[in-house]
Amino acid sequence: MAEEPVNVNEFQELARRALRKMYFDFYNGGAEDQHTLKENEEAFHRITFRPRVLVDVSRINMSTTILGYPTSAPIMIAPTGMHKLAHPEGEVATARAAAACNSIMVMSFSSTCTVEEVASSCNAVRFFQIYVFKRRDLTAMVVQRAERCGFKAIIFTVDAPRIGRREADIKNRMIAPQLKNFEGLLSTEVASDKGSNLAASAAARLDPSVCWKDIEWLRSITSLPILIKGVLTAEDATKAMEVGVAGIVVSNHGARQLDYSPATITVLEEVVRAVGAKIPVLVDGGVRRGTDIFKALALGAKAVLIGRPVLYGLAAKGEHGVRQVMEMLKNELELTMALSGCPTLKDITRSHVRTEHDRL
Ligand code: FNR
Repeated sequence: MAEEPVNVNEFQELARRALRKMYFDFYNGGAEDQHTLKENEEAFHRITFRPRVLVDVSRINMSTTILGYPTSAPIMIAPTGMHKLAHPEGEVATARAAAACNSIMVMSFSSTCTVEEVASSCNAVRFFQIYVFKRRDLTAMVVQRAERCGFKAIIFTVDAPRIGRREADIKNRMIAPQLKNFEGLLSTEVASDKGSNLAASAAARLDPSVCWKDIEWLRSITSLPILIKGVLTAEDATKAMEVGVAGIVVSNHGARQLDYSPATITVLEEVVRAVGAKIPVLVDGGVRRGTDIFKALALGAKAVLIGRPVLYGLAAKGEHGVRQVMEMLKNELELTMALSGCPTLKDITRSHVRTEHDRL
């Protein structure tokens, strides 16, 4: 393709061409009917703007801090597994791109590079995402290695006691590669005719008994701040506050877990209200445009996380592609702020958007 991609959707097409079908489907797909997958994006489309005019927008400032760490824009890289399926440099390329655009990367527990490889590749601010394995010693070992390597926070993903039913992976007989942080420590992949090898091997490892009291256990193995990812209701946001987490990520795991869970942008406000500005609320799912990011900020998010678009960039052009995707979203957000009359992030308010529930 001679022409440069001009938006995230075009990167998706480049990725489709660059990847084996099995891997593209793994990255791109969602659970079951993929209703939530479509909704994550479409719910953004139903929100419109209430822009203000005649505001001096000759300078736009998108910089902010997340848990005290400065970043050039409220756009982070979501934890997604197995980057080496997209590019031979894997998570190292993604981390370097994050560093180059002064963005915070959340590295996945299910990575194809080690925490040490990623940490030594660049000096960006990095957070580390975890699941809790039945072998708690293995989870503790990796958390402690991440802490030693200078990762700044632990993001505990709470929406995956089991792996969602992703039918493309079942059809394609998707096989999980070795998770590099556990090399030699996990039994080899489990074959199953009931589900994909990926789901079967995850089922053999993930601890489905994990509950709120285990945040205490997490605290006993790390001194890093703990955020939880996968909250969709005020009830769970309140519990998260009670157990003292440092932040919440409103997420439905990119619609890969429970189909017919709500589009994240539709429940963001409910969670933000329950939290009441005491801790940062982040959101991910379906963010494909700078306008989406603006909408999330207007509804109370401190920042958004980007999942699939980063993988599309990585598959299409490696580190450079991830950088291009992140810069594209940043530029779109900057333009949206200018056209809405918001020169700084603080100027973006609830009254700058109209949702389906607002009275006309
Ligand atoms: C994910 N996601 C995810 N989340 C997590 O906590 N740990 C993980 O290892 C993964 N792995 C993963 C792989 C792939 C291929 C995808 C697409 C997603 C979910 C991810 O962090 C995030 O919640 C969503 O990707 C956000 O939605 P979008 O931006 O992809 O629409």
